[in-house]
Amino acid sequence: MGGPVRSSAWYSGDDRNAYIHRAWMRRGVPGDAFTGRPQIAIANTASDLTPCNAHLNEVADSVRHGVWEAGGVPLNLPVVSLGETNVRPTAMLWRNLAAMATEELLRANPIDGVVLLGGCDKTIPALLMAAASVDLPALVVPGGPMLTGTFRGTPLGCGTDVWRLSEEVRAGTLSREAFLESESSMIRSRGHCNTMGTASTMGLLAEALGTTLPGLAGIPAADSRLLAKAHESGRTIVEMVAAGRRPSQVLTPASFHNAIVTLAAIGGSTNAVVHLLAIAGRLGIPLTLADFDRIGAGVPLLVDLQPAGRFLMEDLHRAGGLHAVLAQVLDLLAPEAITVTGRPLVEGVDGTPIWDGEVIRTRSDPLRQDAGIAVLRGNLAPDGAIVKPAAASPELLTHRGRAVVFDSVEDLHARIDDEDLDVDADSVLVLRGCGPRGYPGMPEVANLPLPAKLLRAGVRDMVRVCDGRMSGTAYGTVVLHVAPEAAAGGPLARVRSGDWISLDVPGRRLDVEVPAEELAAREPAPAMTEGLASPRRGWEQLYVRTVRGADTGADLDFLVGSSGHAVARESH
Ligand code: FES
Ligand code: MG
Repeated sequence: MGGPVRSSAWYSGDDRNAYIHRAWMRRGVPGDAFTGRPQIAIANTASDLTPCNAHLNEVADSVRHGVWEAGGVPLNLPVVSLGETNVRPTAMLWRNLAAMATEELLRANPIDGVVLLGGCDKTIPALLMAAASVDLPALVVPGGPMLTGTFRGTPLGCGTDVWRLSEEVRAGTLSREAFLESESSMIRSRGHCNTMGTASTMGLLAEALGTTLPGLAGIPAADSRLLAKAHESGRTIVEMVAAGRRPSQVLTPASFHNAIVTLAAIGGSTNAVVHLLAIAGRLGIPLTLADFDRIGAGVPLLVDLQPAGRFLMEDLHRAGGLHAVLAQVLDLLAPEAITVTGRPLVEGVDGTPIWDGEVIRTRSDPLRQDAGIAVLRGNLAPDGAIVKPAAASPELLTHRGRAVVFDSVEDLHARIDDEDLDVDADSVLVLRGCGPRGYPGMPEVANLPLPAKLLRAGVRDMVRVCDGRMSGTAYGTVVLHVAPEAAAGGPLARVRSGDWISLDVPGRRLDVEVPAEELAAREPAPAMTEGLASPRRGWEQLYVRTVRGADTGADLDFLVGSSGHAVARESH
C-alpha cells in the first residue's frame, strides 16, 4: 500500500493534538509504537455473561503476541457481547446494536486493522457487519466449539439434546430427575455450542468467506492449536494492513457463493441466511434469498452433525475439518475468492483426506443429495420463507393440513397442551407475530413444541410455519422467516385456524388454500395490529421503527451499506 498508516492522522506530528493522542496512550509501550507502526484493535467479545466467549481474553493474548512480533501494536477493544442463552427477549434484538456500536468504535479510534474475536451465535455476524461497513483490514478468530460432554455414557449435543430431552420429559419417557442430572454434563469445556448450530455454522462460514486463516475454523476452544492460529492471525493482520487488504476485497460475490455452498455441505443453521444477507448488505453486494436456493440447491450434505445428524464439532475436527469437506465440493466453489492471506480459498484444499468417513461423507456417498436451504414462495410468503430439508422429515416436505393458529408465544404456551385443542398429526401449526418487528427481535421459536397429546401418541414431527427463527440446534419440518412477517401486514396475519395450508418443498411453494379475494378481504388478526410492541424509547424503539424484513437480513434500514473509515474532524 505504501504511505502512512491511518493512525498517523492521530499520532504523527509535533502539534498539541498529536501530543495528546500519544501521551495518554504511552503507558509502558515503547516510544516507537507511534512512529507509523500499525495499530491493531482486538475487537473482543469476551464476557462472563457470554459464557461461550468467556475464554477469548486468552485468545486475545495470543493474538497480541503475533501482532507485536510482526511489528504492530495490539490494542484490546472490548465490544458489545451477546450471550445466546442469557439475553432477553432474544439476542437477535441486539445483533444490529452490537454491529453498530463496533462499527462506530472502529471508525472513531486510531486503528489501522482489527482482529475480530467472536463465538456465540450473534457475535461473529455482528463483528463482520461492523468490519464490512468500516472497511478497515480485518480478520476473524472464531473462539471454537466446546469439547463433547457425555451423560450416562452418551454424548450430549448442546442445545439439540436440551430440546430432545425436554420433549422426552413431556412425553413421559424420561424422568425430570434424570433430565436435571444431565444439566451439569452438557457444557464440558470452554467454547460455543458443539452442534452444527449457528455459532459453529458462522465460525465455519467465516472461513468459507475468506475472513479467517485457512484451517482455523472448527478447532475446539480448548485445543492449543487454536492459540497457535490466534498468534498467527496476529501476524497476518499486520501484513494485511501493509498490503491494504480490506473486507471489500475479501468479501465478494464469489466469497458469498462459497459460503452458501459450504452452508449446504455442512448442513448449517438457517440463521446463517439472515446473517449472510445482512453482511452482504453492508458491502452493497446484491445477495438475495433466491441465491441461496440457486447456489445451494444441488449441493450434497456431507457432514453428519447434530441437529440433523449424529456427531459433534469435535468429531468434525478429528475427521479432517472444513478443508476435508471443501475438498469434496471443490468443483462447486468459486476459485477466484481470496482469503485474508490474499491467496485463494481453494488453494491447498484439494486432496485433504477424510479421517472418519462416518462424520464427513464423500461426494459419491452423501447423506443427502440436495442439501441447500429451500426458499419457498406462495400466497402465504410473497417475499419468501425458508426451510432446511436436511433437518426436516422427508415425508412431510410435501404436505397438506389444516392450520392451527397461534398469535403469540404466550398464546402458544397457554393452549398447546390443552387436551381439547382441535389438532391432529396432519395439522399445520402456525405461529405468527414473531418476526423482527412483531416480537420484536425475531426470536427462535419457530420449532414450536408439539401438543402433548400427540407426543404421547408417538408423533415426533409436524409441519410448522412461523415468521420467526429457529435455533440452529433445532430440527423438524419447520418453515421459518415467513416474509413479510404478520406484524408488517404479511398474509400470515390473515390465516385462520381450519384453513388448509399446502407445503410443497420440491415445488418451492407455501400456500394457504383461500381464494385471493377472500384472503385480501379478511381483516388481519387483531393481535397482529393492536398487540404490537410500541416501545417509547431506547434501542427497541429505534429497532422497531427501522428494522427490515428477514428476507433482506433484518438489518436496520439506515445501517445497510458502508460509511468507510474516514473521520473528518478532530476531538480537541
Ligand atoms: Fe453460545 Fe450456543 S449458546 S453458541
Ligand atoms: Mg443458537
